[in-house]
Amino acid sequence: MKKITKAVFPVAGMGSRFLPATKATAKEMLPVVDKPLIQYAVEEAVAAGITDMVFITGRNKRAIEDHFDKAYELEATLEASGKLKLLSYVQEVVPKNVNCIYIRQAEPLGLGHAVLCAKPVIQDEPFAVILADDLIDGEQAIIHQMVDVFAKHQCSILGVQDVPRAHTKQYGIVSSTNLEKDIERVNGIVEKPKPEDAPSTLAVVGRYILTPRIFHHLENIQPGAGGEIQLTDGIAALMQEEQLLAYRFKGTRYDCGSKLGYLKAQVAFGLMHEELHTDFAAYLKTVV
Ligand code: G1P
Repeated sequence: MKKITKAVFPVAGMGSRFLPATKATAKEMLPVVDKPLIQYAVEEAVAAGITDMVFITGRNKRAIEDHFDKAYELEATLEASGKLKLLSYVQEVVPKNVNCIYIRQAEPLGLGHAVLCAKPVIQDEPFAVILADDLIDGEQAIIHQMVDVFAKHQCSILGVQDVPRAHTKQYGIVSSTNLEKDIERVNGIVEKPKPEDAPSTLAVVGRYILTPRIFHHLENIQPGAGGEIQLTDGIAALMQEEQLLAYRFKGTRYDCGSKLGYLKAQVAFGLMHEELHTDFAAYLKTVV
């Protein structure tokens, strides 16, 4: 029985949809209320028992490394001024048993290439991939739900949800047959099809569990949609040799790669925030 102990976070993207906010910092550092997107993603992995966080970074991503590093001066200052609650927020960013590993993706060659950059660290183990701009709120962490599915089926799993047909060109779309409640057996996957060409409306949303055999396929596929090495194309090749499942996760997903999705996340997480929810709800009533 294999266990998932490593998660890959591809964070080398340019974040061009959020310019100028992302001119000098990473889009994964954009906060939702008071935590950056990448911290939500790492907390999700921690909740699933994952201990090795592998960040695939690029230029302008120093803030991510700093965020998950110890901040001596800040901690000393907060301690000296007795701001212990704030100190705990800073110290709890990375739990003690968690390792952060950084690999640079020198060129933006696509999501598949970014995942392939993790091969020297992942080696021969199944692993999770989490896209931080898909922020998903669930009673149980989404990747935890998927780790549980993996424990039973021991194969690659895609996190999926239904999307409006008009949106298929933003996603990897699967064709599948139902296996059991919330689980589909995937028999086709295509990257960003036009609505009229899409095999279904079941979209992959930023959560994957992959077997290490994916690296072999990522090394051998040609550039696909947008001229990039697409993770979806690697998964399509993997599916020819191994069982591939899609899991309809239980949770609400916010597409924080888009401005509207990001604003929706701010509202949802603001309304759930332990200190803010009452005042924020009262305020929202006055504006809508
Ligand atoms: C990537 C993947 C796509 C997936 C999507 C989920 O696309 O290539 O298959 O459906 O993430 O958010 P991107 O959003 O990076 O264009």
